[in-house]
Amino acid sequence: MPASPSGARPERICSPVTSSPPAAAKAFRVGLLGHGTVGGALATLVPERADHIAAITGMRPEITGIHTRSNGTSFEEVLAGCDLVAELIGGLEPARTYVLQAMAAGKHVVTANKQLLAHHGEELWAAARRHGVQLRFEAAVAGVVPVIRVLQESLAGAHVDRITGIVNGTTNFILTRMAETGATYAEALEEAQHLGYAEADPSDDVNGKDAAAKMAILARLAFDTPVHIDDVLYEGIEHLTADDMAYARDLGLGLKLIGTAERVDGGISVSVHPAFLYSGHPLASVNGPFNAVTVESAAITEITMSGPGAGGPQTASAVLGDVISAMIPPASTPETTQSLPIVQDVKRAFYLHLEVADRPGVLAQVAQVLGIQGASVKSVVQKGLGENARLVMVVHPLLESRMLAAVELIAGLDSVRGRPRVIRVIEEQFQ
Ligand SMILES: NC(=O)c1ccc[n+]([C@@H]2O[C@H](COP(=O)([O-])OP(=O)(O)OC[C@H]3O[C@@H](n4cnc5c(N)ncnc54)[C@H](OP(=O)(O)O)[C@@H]3O)[C@@H](O)[C@H]2O)c1
Repeated sequence: MPASPSGARPERICSPVTSSPPAAAKAFRVGLLGHGTVGGALATLVPERADHIAAITGMRPEITGIHTRSNGTSFEEVLAGCDLVAELIGGLEPARTYVLQAMAAGKHVVTANKQLLAHHGEELWAAARRHGVQLRFEAAVAGVVPVIRVLQESLAGAHVDRITGIVNGTTNFILTRMAETGATYAEALEEAQHLGYAEADPSDDVNGKDAAAKMAILARLAFDTPVHIDDVLYEGIEHLTADDMAYARDLGLGLKLIGTAERVDGGISVSVHPAFLYSGHPLASVNGPFNAVTVESAAITEITMSGPGAGGPQTASAVLGDVISAMIPPASTPETTQSLPIVQDVKRAFYLHLEVADRPGVLAQVAQVLGIQGASVKSVVQKGLGENARLVMVVHPLLESRMLAAVELIAGLDSVRGRPRVIRVIEEQFQ
């Protein structure tokens, strides 16, 4: 079913409750901070699901107070009357202060706020452990896709080697439309805004910052080491052209905004970049506003989870799942036991797109410069454009610093017209 950030409620997937809820189920009081897209959807969902939840947990969730900037109910009033705070305001402040105050008052907290955790996660998880309360955040990464629970619980015993994710639905929708229809970036963005898949100000989505925050959280959980958003190198999709899509098709590649968190040389590397994927990669077929996360570990080979990454009802469903988990026995994010180095220069394959003078020897000249930096060419497409030609190639993996050095040298060749375009390629195909 397609994700719908502004759209229809998804079909129920739970079977109907057959047993009646206990007549006098104890109330579990939820204080809501924020009543926008997600908070509003949660306020609708809680009473709808209350009987079912009472039947399975013996407690009936109730929204007992709502604080927004404008509704006149103070944070303190909401806090005093609840067992759990659902922080659905977004941003760093006052969200951080409210979450810390709620935990200090002995309340569990559920949040969907990735920026808050990517900036202040260690402080907040430490506070949760200190006060013996739960801080749950399934909806902060990949919406309703249960990747946090899988990393914290199902895969808690696995040694994760790498996580690769499409964790921003807005950019995945835009890139899908560019690939399917030949639309420019600007046209696809406009369509995304029209359909409610992109906000009026889409900056944090299209520049990669939203995905970077989510990858920082996933890396922290997967590798048991502190990861701050400043440790994540990120790049957005604004500079991509319909041309890149067309040439990539010729090379058998599809373009996605990919987050990668991996172990490298005794440290970890966390990044977000547009990247080409071969069709055998599990993320290659994830289209439209969907999110997906692939976890690799020698013991489990690879698992991929996908589903709607955003939307009020969808995100509220993940938040409510966290509320129910907090109603039953405790779970906390343990303190990290190590501090792995962050590695920023990683070996990758690259796509290189050049406009060159159409004369003999130019390809050999480019290949020679690449060779000096240790790069070797895997495949090439060449097209004539009158006096010029377009050279598009995929280069085997080499250190990013060496590829960028090669690109600077290539940009300086007198046969090269304009600025070379470079996009990373993910070579794994899992087949
Ligand atoms: N929307 C999604 O699909 C989605 C998906 C995954 C995660 N999330 C996350 O969920 C959170 C909420 O997102 P949203 O889309 O629901 O936001 P939203 O529609 O903009 O709603 C924000 C709510 O928070 C309130 N608020 C804002 N600043 C506040 C402040 N300083 N003090 C008190 N209340 C304040 C607003 O109240 P006023 O109306 O009075 O200003 C509004 O009720 C964010 O962390 C977001 O990243 C959203």
